[in-house]
Formats: sequence, C-alpha cells, structure tokens
Amino acid sequence: MDKLVIYGPTRLKGEVTISGAKNAAVAILPATLLVNGISIIENIPNISDVKLSCTILEKLGAKVNWIANNKVEIDTRNITSSNTPLDITSKFRASYYLVGSLLGRCGSAEVGLPGGCNLGARPIDQHIKGFESLGAKVEVSQGKITAKAKKLVGTSIYMDIVSVGATINVMLASVLAEGTTTIDNAAKEPHIVDVANFLNTMGADIRGAGTDVIKINGVKELKGNYTYSVVPDQIEAGTFMLAAIASRGDIVIKNCIPEHLDCITAKIFEIGGNVEDLGDSIHVWTNKRPGRAIVKTLPYPGFPTDMQPQIGVALSIADGTSIINESIWESRFQYTAELNKMGAHITAQGKSAVFEGVKNLTGAPVYATDLRAGAALIIAGIIANGETHLYNLDHIDRGYENIEDKFRSLGAKIQRVSE
Ligand code: EPZ
Repeated sequence: MDKLVIYGPTRLKGEVTISGAKNAAVAILPATLLVNGISIIENIPNISDVKLSCTILEKLGAKVNWIANNKVEIDTRNITSSNTPLDITSKFRASYYLVGSLLGRCGSAEVGLPGGCNLGARPIDQHIKGFESLGAKVEVSQGKITAKAKKLVGTSIYMDIVSVGATINVMLASVLAEGTTTIDNAAKEPHIVDVANFLNTMGADIRGAGTDVIKINGVKELKGNYTYSVVPDQIEAGTFMLAAIASRGDIVIKNCIPEHLDCITAKIFEIGGNVEDLGDSIHVWTNKRPGRAIVKTLPYPGFPTDMQPQIGVALSIADGTSIINESIWESRFQYTAELNKMGAHITAQGKSAVFEGVKNLTGAPVYATDLRAGAALIIAGIIANGETHLYNLDHIDRGYENIEDKFRSLGAKIQRVSE
C-alpha cells in the first residue's frame, strides 16, 4: 500500500497546469457509446476512473486506442453487449452513465449499481424517473440496474432535485430518442456543458446546457469522427487556489477557465486572499493568515461541495471561528476527524461543522476518507509543522493526475513511498 510522506510547513510558489475535468471525462467516455463512429478525445486526465471507464468500453466491444498520455481514440461502431459487471461498476460513481448511453444506443442496459466516494446515501431515483419518463422499464435488483425500452420518446422531465448525474444521464438517454426532451430544474455545472458540447460535436442537438432548462431534439445517429477536448477541471483548479491561500503562497494556475471559479474566488477575497484573472490562467496569492468565513455548499454556480474539504483546511487555521454548511451530501465531514488529529479544532454535527481557527497544524498519520478529503489532507500536510503520512491514496488517484508531482513543482516536500 502506498502512502504520501509530506514535510511542512512550505509556502507553495510557482506555476501549475490543470488537467481535463474528471467529472466531464467520466461522462464523455460512456457517451461515446452513442456514437456510431470514432471519437477522439484530448485533454483527458490520466486517472484511475478514466482507465476503468475505458476497460468497461472495451468489455462492451469498443476499440480503445491511447494515442498519447492524455489523448484517446474510441471506436464504438461495433458494440457487442449492453451488460456491465458489478465488480467493475461498483468501483466508481460514474458507471451509472452507462445506463443512459446503452439505453440510447441499444434500447437496453444491465449495469451494476455504482460505487464512488462514501458521502452518505447516493440515491438514483431521479435517473430512474428520467428513463421511465422517456418510456423505459427500469428495475433495480440484485445489485444492478436493468433498463429496457422498445422506443425512447422525448418528453418533459422536471427534476425534483438539482442533480448532476441525473441531468447528464437523461441527456444521454434522449439524444437518439424520437422527438424533443426538455429537462427542467437541470444542474448547470461546467462538466454538464462539456458533455453537451461533446455530444453536439458528434451530431446531437442539445440546447441550453448550463442553464436550468435543457432541450434535446432527438437525432437519428451520432456519426462521430471528430476530436473533442475535455474542459479544464474546475475542482482541481480550485484545489490549487485554496492550497495557495492555506500555505500563504503564490501560485499561477494555468489551463483553467476563471469564470468557472467565480464562487471560489469570491470566498478567497472574503477570507483576505488575492486573485487575478489572467484569461486562461488565474493567479492566487496571500502572505497572511486566512480570515474566518461562513460557507454553504450549493449546486453550480454556488460554492461547490467538491471544494468543501479544501476550504475546510484553510478555515482550520483561520483567524476566528468559521462554519461550513454542507447542503449536498449527508456525510462529507469525515476529513475533519483527520484534521483534528493534526491539531485542528473542528466540531462536525450532521450537515454543519464549526471550525475554531488554530495558529498551526502539526504533522500526523492521517487517512483519506474520499477523493476531495484526500486532496485537502495533502494541503494540510504541506502547511503543518513536521511530518505527515497520508494513507488510502486510491481515493486520490481516482480523480487527480500526478498530484504529488504538481505539488512538488510548487515547492512541496512530498514523496510517494510504498509501505
Ligand atoms: C456528481 O455526483 C459528482 N460526481 C460529485 O463529485 C459531486 O459532488 C456531485 O455531482 C455534486 O456536484 C461525478 O460527477 C462523477 P448529484 P452525483 O446527483 O451526480 C441527490 C467528486 O468529488 N440525488 O448532483 O452523484 C444526492 O443525494 C464527486 O468529484 C437524489 O436525491 O451528484 C445529492 O444530495 C464526489 N436523487 C444531490 O442530489 C438522485 O437520483 C446532488 O447529487 C440523484 C441525486
């Protein structure tokens, strides 16, 4: 089992280039099943969730050819199955996109229930509501989702809750349906826009992605044979923004889209940091202790839940007492127990946590409890006095490409060692 050994404190300084967005890539890969042709995808992050998605595509009959480290060619002209085994799909959350894309392509899907970060209950009722509204019969039993439809017919669907996954999954199921589908109360995250842009590049007719009403006019076929570049990862960029603030450093974050980061920028100004929009990069710096804040996580364009642990680290050493309200997930404060091992004073209760800022953290052995918690604990190890050993790196490797190399290039004293 590998671990990261981190010595602190270090003030991070320099430039870092952001990879393609994990949450766009893990939806675009299954979306290639809707294409009766070849899809070439660039700027795809080299992370384990992407590799797993490609393995599943190959098991379904697709040909996957890595042209370069972050560029892959996927030939989905010959799909031989619509069944995916539970042992793979249960390893990550995005496997549920296979239902929407196989339903759209073949009219049937049998997919093991998804796994993913342990953030509490992660229901899929809105996905099922969408598929059934389009005319599919859906059953969840024996650990898998089975969906069948003689014909998918476009309709209007009102999401009871703003859901990234359900919005994308209904979009996937409706691009080849007969007629028009309208998704009301749709999620608006940048990765949703990216999936819609990919599908439109391949011949779909989707309008309104990024707003809360998305219209999909069904088309006969997606021909493909185009190249698509995945959007830069909003959450990875945000992770390095908060690393600059927590470490009192100075970082230029390259290959990002600053307007996707507006909510994070606003919070950084609020706690006394500096941010400068450089067009396709963003400059973040401070030389003082962060101030306190009240943070509420919300669907985009609100403060992202996937940035909650990272800002939690900055607030754990802030000058004053802060509160975080986590409105999306039931159980996303597990990381606070790990920060308390490092000397933080955090009290988490249900969907809220109170952070009494301390002057410094001290290094300790800590465990990543999920993907973003893992990234946050790297930042904690970098700013702490002394040595931190961080375990459970599988969580981090699911969603961050070469994370320790990127932090090391900013001056962090960090090594991956095998236990
Ligand atoms: C996506 O998860 C992301 N994962 C998550 O990122 C992210 O935290 C989340 O969106 C919110 O932004 C991927 O894109 C692979 P949701 P998803 O459906 O789609 C409830 C990371 O760190 N809900 O938007 O599963 C749900 O319980 C990961 O990259 C229903 O009630 O999230 C939650 O409270 C962690 N019924 C809320 O909606 C449903 O059918 C938002 O969930 C679906 C969701």
